[in-house]
Amino acid sequence: MIPVFEPEIGEKEIELVIDALRKGEISGSFGEYIPRFEAEFAKFCGATHGIAVTSGTTALEVAVAAAGIGAGDEVLISSCTNIATALAVYRNNAVSVPVDSEATTWNLDLDLVEELITPKTKAILPVHIYGHPVDMDRVNAIAKKHNLVVIEDAAEAHGAEVRGKRVGGLSDMGCFSFYANKIITTGEGGMVVTSDDKLAKQLRLLRNLAFGQPRFYHEVPGYNFRMTGMQAAFGLGQLAKIDRFIEDRRRVARMYNDKLASITELQLPVELPWAKNVYWMYAVVLRPTAKVRRDPMLDFLRKDGIDTRTMFCPMNMQPFLKKQAGYREIACPVAENLWENGFYLPSSSSVTEADVSKIADAIKRYLAANR
Ligand SMILES: Cc1ncc(COP(=O)(O)O)c(C=O)c1O
Repeated sequence: MIPVFEPEIGEKEIELVIDALRKGEISGSFGEYIPRFEAEFAKFCGATHGIAVTSGTTALEVAVAAAGIGAGDEVLISSCTNIATALAVYRNNAVSVPVDSEATTWNLDLDLVEELITPKTKAILPVHIYGHPVDMDRVNAIAKKHNLVVIEDAAEAHGAEVRGKRVGGLSDMGCFSFYANKIITTGEGGMVVTSDDKLAKQLRLLRNLAFGQPRFYHEVPGYNFRMTGMQAAFGLGQLAKIDRFIEDRRRVARMYNDKLASITELQLPVELPWAKNVYWMYAVVLRPTAKVRRDPMLDFLRKDGIDTRTMFCPMNMQPFLKKQAGYREIACPVAENLWENGFYLPSSSSVTEADVSKIADAIKRYLAANR
């Protein structure tokens, strides 16, 4: 089976994890590896501070909390995303408002944002989906006009760029995941990056149980979202290779673009002129003109040894969100179409030209047999 993704873990990472263990850097509150990983990753993103946490999900949750968002507030989010984006808002007792997707990048459609803003809106939380960045210059202009906080969900887009600047550092806070299938991994893990000193202080406080003065005296409720030293050591080893990992993703995307271009039934991912897409996953969408259904096609590919995943179920269709007090019913037809007809293909560094040819041939065979 060609997997949709497999992480690449080298000897260097193994040595670093062992070194962390030897030095006793096993927990999340002491040692050298955590501050080093935070500083180096924040620098990579063009931000001043990094706050390492246990996952992308908890990075988002603590970022929303640090922004002071809570009951009675609304946050505009991308409709096409992992549930973690909406959970971050939900867990802070606020309501997420889904913004439908653009048909080309599948990111939130910035033409729809302003009409969804109400006096309750406190923040915009755009997601750089599948590695294509959102136009953060436009997001920040809207946010400035309406006095909103901006938090980037950059879980899928380490190193993606908007007009030459890397995501994560383009807003108040940028949130990353280091889950096994991400551009760099620490197994589980995440980070919030920010250039705002006050937010950084608040994020550090909340991450670590919000210990106050004196110690064991707590003004606010915190979380234990601490990353371990072993994970930070792992992350430093991965970070040293990030440029190559990104180039691998782009190389795989070029091969797919080349071999799938003749298949008129498929919409391929784009890279807008101002953007650098890191193609976290190479996603495609079956066009309405196709005579086949997606799921039987994915079953056919699986039988041929090709693993795939569907795109996300949009946030306007999630049962628990629909039951939340204050939920706003918003149509997201573009995101719903992505959920029905979108899927992504094997996208690891290890994907070869022969793999891409095999995948393209299998798709062509299936379409030819069902025209
Ligand atoms: C867009 C997005 N946000 C957040 C997350 C959550 O990250 P984690 O799995 O590290 O909690 C993910 C993915 O896993 C994601 O794809």
